[in-house]
Amino acid sequence: MTELIWDGKYKDGKKQAPVQIALPFQTIETVNESAADREKRLNSLFNTAQQATQWRNRLIWGDKKYVLPSLMPEFAGKINLIYIDPPFNVGSDFSFTATIAENPDTPQDEQATFTKQPSIIEQKAYRDTWGKGLDSYLQWFYETAVLLRELLADNGSIYVHLDWHVGHYAKAILDEVFGYDNFMNEIVWYYTNKIPDTRKKKFTNSSDFILLYSKSEGKQIFYPQFDKRENPIKVSKMKKVDGKKVYIKDEEGKGLYDVRYERTADNVWQFALLHAQPEIVGYPTQKPEALLERIIKASSNEGDLVLDCFCGSGTTAAVSEKLNRRWITCDLGRFSIHTARKRFLGIADVKPFVVQNLGKYERQQWQQAEFNTPPAGADLLAGADLQSVPQFKNADLTRHCGLDPAGADLQSVPKTALQKRLEQEKSYKNFICDLYHANSLNNYTYIHGTKAGRMIHVGSVDAPVTVEDIKNAIIEFWNIAGKKQNPNLTRHCGLDPQSPENKAVPVAGADLQSVPNTAAANLHAVPQTNGIDFLGWDFAFDVNETAAQFAASNRVDVKFKKIPREVLEKKAVEQGDIKFYELAALEIKTKTDKNKLSISLENFIIPPDDIPDEVRTSITHWSQWIDYWAVDWNYRDDTFHNEWQSYRTKQNPKIELKTTNTYEQKGAYTVLVKVIDILGNDTTKAIQINVE
Ligand SMILES: C[S@@+](CC[C@H](N)C(=O)[O-])C[C@H]1O[C@@H](n2cnc3c(N)ncnc32)[C@H](O)[C@@H]1O
Repeated sequence: MTELIWDGKYKDGKKQAPVQIALPFQTIETVNESAADREKRLNSLFNTAQQATQWRNRLIWGDKKYVLPSLMPEFAGKINLIYIDPPFNVGSDFSFTATIAENPDTPQDEQATFTKQPSIIEQKAYRDTWGKGLDSYLQWFYETAVLLRELLADNGSIYVHLDWHVGHYAKAILDEVFGYDNFMNEIVWYYTNKIPDTRKKKFTNSSDFILLYSKSEGKQIFYPQFDKRENPIKVSKMKKVDGKKVYIKDEEGKGLYDVRYERTADNVWQFALLHAQPEIVGYPTQKPEALLERIIKASSNEGDLVLDCFCGSGTTAAVSEKLNRRWITCDLGRFSIHTARKRFLGIADVKPFVVQNLGKYERQQWQQAEFNTPPAGADLLAGADLQSVPQFKNADLTRHCGLDPAGADLQSVPKTALQKRLEQEKSYKNFICDLYHANSLNNYTYIHGTKAGRMIHVGSVDAPVTVEDIKNAIIEFWNIAGKKQNPNLTRHCGLDPQSPENKAVPVAGADLQSVPNTAAANLHAVPQTNGIDFLGWDFAFDVNETAAQFAASNRVDVKFKKIPREVLEKKAVEQGDIKFYELAALEIKTKTDKNKLSISLENFIIPPDDIPDEVRTSITHWSQWIDYWAVDWNYRDDTFHNEWQSYRTKQNPKIELKTTNTYEQKGAYTVLVKVIDILGNDTTKAIQINVE
């Protein structure tokens, strides 16, 4: 058979296969789940059989390169319908229009919009796809097609949305992957309302095309679809007599007719482009729901599973939801995930769904490859899984870094492997310090570097920075500062474990408030260095509040900065365009009145890093930064459970800043508040309350 060859398709005579590593998904949010279902889920956390029976639609934040292979163990051969609308133009594929709502305090202030340019991760995805021009795009597309075919059920169909840019090359690839015999249709979507442009000395392009393949010709689900006729037609009524078709006539011998208002749809579909329709959600490449409705109705049954790995604004999943299909969708863009979540929430009676990512697993994978970390447990404990050793989870390793390997927890671990692991952990921390342009410090447990007079703590790849980490780093900060400045201080602070007076002071988690006054007085004189920057992939919900207070009362200035996901990307690292953004600060007021809790948002401060100046100046009230917020009234260390939310839409740009909840039972509760700003970044805060 004729074959399309591109640069990079073959290596050493073999076709280059896609990444095949299956990473576990992490659920970061559960939306619309009832309290009873949540209870069931919590009770069945260790019962996978029970979990498996409870289906949840899935909105996944991640690159299809990792997401598709990770779906494989559960869904290979199980997806009934796939629709994809892959990217092919960085401008409209990755930039988006963010909307700034009007200022509630000044009615004359108007709603404004601005275009957010692609983030580094999105540019990187673009480089991956288009870096070497058409060749790299075709390799990227080929790998996608191979994985999608594996996921498709025997009765499944795939619709691939393309246009003149790459569509004809893609057809050759799809023929190769799915088989020419499984090619069913080239569907032409003719946009009925495109404004012609006669300046270009060619015909205006007014169509896209969608290639339809079945997994296995003849087995696919298919239901004919119908178009409305502008002019109804009359069709003679017929019946069979002695095996022959004859006209049906009335008593007077006149032929009887049916009036047909519809015609059976062929492969040319006419749907208007989305210009000003209410379904527009501000995503430049959004496709019309009518188009997806036709596809889903033609090639799936209720309850079937539909996949779209280029979610965008979420059209495929939204229509699947409305038509009672199950769905999985993913996108690597943060704004896509945010837009889609709001869109799904706007569907009446939307069924519970989860928001997932590959979070720490993707990072562990990276750490292992980049720093040659031995797989957890493999050579450390001869086959035992390190994770299952009490007190010795991967995340804890860092905390143990400075501990005596002869300590109780570590005794069973062979020293050489442990040392190797610790060295790799150090290489990772040094690498992050380097990216942050900090000097590494290798002799301490919680302080890993210094930069411009500040100390640096680097969080582990697989655990959030916790309040405990922060307290420990502050203790170590004073230990270091004290040692340098004033040996007396170290002794008084109880930070020198060798000192007999200090034996009684527990180092980890010690409350610095209890340091004797004389020492506290000395502390004022000490710091040459003025604070600690905590660099973390994730932060525990309460750090910005609890830890910041603790730090302030111990006279340490702390900053919390996110290690951006771009760090995982070699090219972004090589280009040196890595930025560490500070966490946003959220102020919340709570009031309890018997069993009723009221909470109100009082302030929201976004650090200036990523915001264009013109946007900053057009925001005159802090609430304009907020696009969406949600509350989990009873967080129980599971995932954020979205039980109430308020968000802006094009039709209704106002947002509530207050909400209440009535509790049925007395007790102590943790309330989690998640705010998403107009750029799609989220900030979460935990509040402890007591219901009397
Ligand atoms: C053309 S848009 C899809 C629009 C969608 N059909 C709709 O109706 O809104 C393509 C989407 O693919 C996403 N994307 C690009 N590369 C990706 C990748 N490697 N993995 C996952 N999503 C990707 C982009 O972020 C973008 O949202």
